Amino acid sequence: EAAEKGGYDHYMRKEIHEQPTALRQILECHSSGEGLPDLDSAFLDGIREVQFVACGTSYHAALYGEYVATERGIPASTHLASEYATHARPVSEGTLVVAVTQSGETADTLGAIETAQRADARTLAVTNVVGSSAARVCDGALYIRAGPEIGVAATKTFSSQVVALSLFADQLAGEDSPSGPVDFGSLPGGVERVLETSRSRDIAERYRGRDAFFFIGRGVGYPVALEGALKFKEISYEHAEGFAAGELKHGPLALVTPASVVFAIFTGQDDEKLLGNVREAQTRGATVVAVTDGTNEEVLRQADDILSIPEAPPTVAGLLANVQLQLVSYHAAALLGRPIDKPRNLAKSVTVE
Ligand code: G6P
Repeated sequence: EAAEKGGYDHYMRKEIHEQPTALRQILECHSSGEGLPDLDSAFLDGIREVQFVACGTSYHAALYGEYVATERGIPASTHLASEYATHARPVSEGTLVVAVTQSGETADTLGAIETAQRADARTLAVTNVVGSSAARVCDGALYIRAGPEIGVAATKTFSSQVVALSLFADQLAGEDSPSGPVDFGSLPGGVERVLETSRSRDIAERYRGRDAFFFIGRGVGYPVALEGALKFKEISYEHAEGFAAGELKHGPLALVTPASVVFAIFTGQDDEKLLGNVREAQTRGATVVAVTDGTNEEVLRQADDILSIPEAPPTVAGLLANVQLQLVSYHAAALLGRPIDKPRNLAKSVTVE
């Protein structure tokens, strides 16, 4: 097993470090300029609306994908698979239901696919596992090409899912998109830089023992906040919650005290408003760690601590910020001596509804 971990203490750490390679794999298969090899253009013909269904980390990747698709002018929505199965959305001939599932075996997601197919929707599986149940039952399959993931907490597959969904959105949007395609060229190198320079261990050490850890963001920073909190609670067992930053004042602010740490994810989207939310939290005594590229000096001045990411467009910045947060969770859990690859009560693939 030690050999399989490639010199790392845990699979999760290894998989975090495999992200540059995994990302190059999905990006290269697209670089031929002919679109994704898994999707022929006839399959996407006539699609006017996309409904994403997913669970857990895949749900957060789907939400990120929804933001990207919407920017490209595609009507898109994201649904928890367990809810979709009983509260299906209306579908029409132009609806594509996209099941985002690393394993392709999650019962809730398979249930949502079944619901969509009963309503005659076209279905696509976005998955890491060739020949998985989702890939077999859907009308099409798009493989994220991340390589096997062993750690229960998903890491590299989140990044690869987001890139796959963005490339899918590019292909679907075609020429008539209001915005150009996202340029992910700098992403693998940017992730390498984060892995080499991250101060995440110091941050985890400094704030060990605090009561609660909150994660806030806007735009693509919102799914990253949800994912940051999920990762943190799954493996450290500490109380962690993610919020859309604008919602802080509608309830969660009641939880914020001097014993709280707030991670604020700055991607270049709505940074000024996020800065306002940072001040709201600091007024209640919380410590704020900003994940930022440092180009906004006001963010640097206001934050109590910084996790740096390379300068990049917002869609890329969100993924770089997510890698910083994966590392913070990892170190927080490692310092507490948690069984990182196999957290209590959780499974890699949940095959019951
Ligand atoms: C489990 C795992 C999560 C994962 C979720 C969805 O809860 O512990 O890490 O995100 O299932 O899995 P899927 O294979 O459908 O992406």
